[in-house]
Amino acid sequence: MNILVTGGAGFIGSHTCLALLEQGYEVVVVDSFINSNKKSLDGVIEILKFNKTIKNIPLEIIKADIRNEKLLDKLFLGYKKSGKPINAVIHFAGLKSVKESILNPLNYWDVNVNGSITLLRVMDRYKCKRIVFSSSATIYGYSNKKSFNENSEIKPINPYGTTKVAIEQFLNDVYLSNPKEWGIANLRYFNPIGAHPSGLIGEAPLGVPSNIFPYLTQVAAGKINKLNIFGNDWPTKDGTAIRDYIHVMDLAEGHISALQKLNENKIMTVNLGTGFGTSVLELVNTFERVNNIKIPIEFTSRRQGDCCRVVADNTLAISSLGWSPKRYLEEMCLDGWKWQSLNPKGY
Ligand code: NAD
Ligand code: WQD
Repeated sequence: MNILVTGGAGFIGSHTCLALLEQGYEVVVVDSFINSNKKSLDGVIEILKFNKTIKNIPLEIIKADIRNEKLLDKLFLGYKKSGKPINAVIHFAGLKSVKESILNPLNYWDVNVNGSITLLRVMDRYKCKRIVFSSSATIYGYSNKKSFNENSEIKPINPYGTTKVAIEQFLNDVYLSNPKEWGIANLRYFNPIGAHPSGLIGEAPLGVPSNIFPYLTQVAAGKINKLNIFGNDWPTKDGTAIRDYIHVMDLAEGHISALQKLNENKIMTVNLGTGFGTSVLELVNTFERVNNIKIPIEFTSRRQGDCCRVVADNTLAISSLGWSPKRYLEEMCLDGWKWQSLNPKGY
């Protein structure tokens, strides 16, 4: 099967390309490289060559913006003519900074929503009717619920979140227009962290990271002098906020499970998380313990827009995808640090 992976050079995309290629899929990446580097895909090739799993690695890389309909059309046509049509799409391409989305909602709606509409229009034209979409737990909004299931209230609190809701709704409408043909999976990720255990690919945010894990690894590397912990007055056992951290390789494998289910022509919306809550202090302590590194911390006030606890109810993923997360927090911390320490400047 020939899979188009939009945003395939990014953090989750590159790990998913690796998992796809290891499973024998052929992969075409479309990425504008606005927030990534082609070297991530060189890393994917290096891992595959090292493992000697595949001789000729079927990976095509195309630099393009998903909003460029002409280019996407040409690409789908080219593959169709070559006798190897694109069979399905895993759609990662998009912008993901909450802060940026508040400052520039127009750009977020244009890239995320218009980009997805353009992609779907071309897919429809070429009768490519299988898509796995990167949605986010961010759409659940404020709550102190023990865990969120897929029927929990949808209440995004920033433009990034509203674009994800809009795309899910639009995909639902597309599905309803022809349920016999479309297969759609909305995967709502919780907090992906870590890296491939080789240390050859990982998360490489541009500038100062806003997510905790790359920030923490940069503190560990001495690039940033301390980790600010946003609030120690949350109603949790140690006062710091709780999240559901999931190893990026578990997340990558979840995409393959979802892809395999799409042959059944359906729409599914599924949480991808571990179902375990970890506080910021627990994350820091685990990182320090497994890597034998001291992390300087300082407690600061709560970050605007944060909430206390965001943990997945992942029972639907386990029952419907036949997938389950396999890697513990210790592995996330070990693998993430290996990536950071071997690649202090990222790619
Ligand atoms: P990322 O920024 O590393 O990857 C996104 C990729 O899309 C990048 O390679 C970027 O260059 C590319 N891209 C952006 N705009 C594009 C465009 N117009 N045309 C083509 N390519 C474009 O982010 P990631 O962490 O790998 O996230 C992947 C997807 O998962 C995103 O849609 C994100 O919103 C979603 N998601 C991420 C998280 C997370 O915490 N990382 C959580 C939930 C959902
Ligand atoms: C995790 C915890 C912070 C940084 C975001 C997006 C969400 C999704 C995942 C894409 C929180 C605390 C953080 C720091 C800290 N992305 N923290 N010091 O906020 O759960 O979710 O990324 O869809 O949409 O909102 O992740 O990594 O920013 O924060 O104390 O320097 O770490 O307060 O409790 P978050 P995060």
